[in-house]
Amino acid sequence: MPDRPANPDAPRPSAAPSADADADALRAKRIIVGVTGGIAAYKTAALVSRLAQAGAEVTVAMTPAATKFVGPITFQALSGRPVYTSAWEHVESHDPQHISLARAADLAIVAPCSMDCLARLATGRADDVVCLILSAIDRKTTPVLLAPAMNETMWSQPATQRNVRTLTQDGYAFVGPAHGWQACRAVGPGRMSEPEEILASAAALVGERSACSPVRSGDAAERSVDRNAVSPDRQ
Ligand SMILES: Cc1cc2nc3c(=O)[nH]c(=O)nc-3n(C[C@H](O)[C@H](O)[C@H](O)COP(=O)(O)O)c2cc1C
Repeated sequence: MPDRPANPDAPRPSAAPSADADADALRAKRIIVGVTGGIAAYKTAALVSRLAQAGAEVTVAMTPAATKFVGPITFQALSGRPVYTSAWEHVESHDPQHISLARAADLAIVAPCSMDCLARLATGRADDVVCLILSAIDRKTTPVLLAPAMNETMWSQPATQRNVRTLTQDGYAFVGPAHGWQACRAVGPGRMSEPEEILASAAALVGERSACSPVRSGDAAERSVDRNAVSPDRQ
């Protein structure tokens, strides 16, 4: 049977109010998105696009392994910002840019967060650009959200579970992993949460921080963010 034609007079379903609220919470926020080496990196492209559409200023940093899954140019196009793939190439300034990025951030997200990245963070390592930026973030003022993604056996490893407990105690926030289909053709826990779910967690964390802490000098709300501004070093 053919679909009935839509009644133009019928009330239109309104956009999901929670999605609108999430977008509002993220507007004008400076958000670092760290991408590590996992198949789910393709979903992070959608996450970055949604954050940009919400009006956030998104800076993407990628580990070398992450660049094997999605090219930096994709994130550059979606965020409209330079992408950091090395601690040694100073993209925006001659200052220690991991410090300035970390200080300016309202939130950092790592999605996907690999098993290896969980281990590095849990042991306080800073030898790739993602962990280096996170090492300079004070989680008492700036939340860090991890979205793990890995094969179910990798997720259930005692080492991984131990690292997750350590990171939780150290003040990292988690979203997922979800239970479901995995790229290794298994079904189980370890699948990265969907971009919308990560977005909702991000909005909740930013909202909590805004409600709890006084506005810091230099907060995005105080700053006039000129997205097209070119640092003097790059002119
Ligand atoms: C095809 C392929 C897919 C992979 N998928 C994942 C994954 O989903 N999750 C994960 O934790 N590691 C995965 N790995 C392993 C990581 O890429 C590897 O541990 C790497 O060292 C992670 O580096 P990074 O954390 O610096 O990005 C995969 C490796 C390959 C070759």
